[in-house]
Amino acid sequence: MFDMDTFIADCCDAVEQDPSHRTVRELAARAVADPAAVLRDLGEPERAGVIPLFQSDKLTVLNVIWGPLMNVPPHNHDMWAVIGVYTGREDNVFWRRIADEQGETIEAAGAKSLTVKDAEPLGRDIIHSVVNPVDRLTAAIHLYGGDFFDTPRSEWDPENHRERPFDTDRTRSYFERSNRLLNAG
Ligand SMILES: [Fe+2]
Repeated sequence: MFDMDTFIADCCDAVEQDPSHRTVRELAARAVADPAAVLRDLGEPERAGVIPLFQSDKLTVLNVIWGPLMNVPPHNHDMWAVIGVYTGREDNVFWRRIADEQGETIEAAGAKSLTVKDAEPLGRDIIHSVVNPVDRLTAAIHLYGGDFFDTPRSEWDPENHRERPFDTDRTRSYFERSNRLLNAG
């Protein structure tokens, strides 16, 4: 049986003892190994959104629900992350910084398609973009090794690949647009 409060308490203990992602990843893997139990506890996702479940300076826990076929442009977190998918699929593209004539841009460096029961660690310097490739909601527990909402980070313009400060409102608008499409059927 999965219980989010217990899970969060266990993750808090884990980062107190080891500030790396190692134990948290094991806890996330164990949680999403029984996705039906996570769904029973968190409920079947009904709309796209980022639902904060816990926030401290050492750990943030989010329930991230991607709209059907939704995508978000490249961004970093400036802290480790663990993504544990419990319904649907998350396609991640990983990017690396490269020099160009205008200074710096990014190029695709790899990809990983995450599905139910995957608990994938992302290193501190990872730049990724995310696509929900399925035509229904995808949901994952996202864990971050710091205060996700109070740490300055970057996103990259999806068209010209120039770095800019991460804009929470812009990202929120992606989720809202996805929900408008969802409501429109
Ligand atoms: Fe991310």
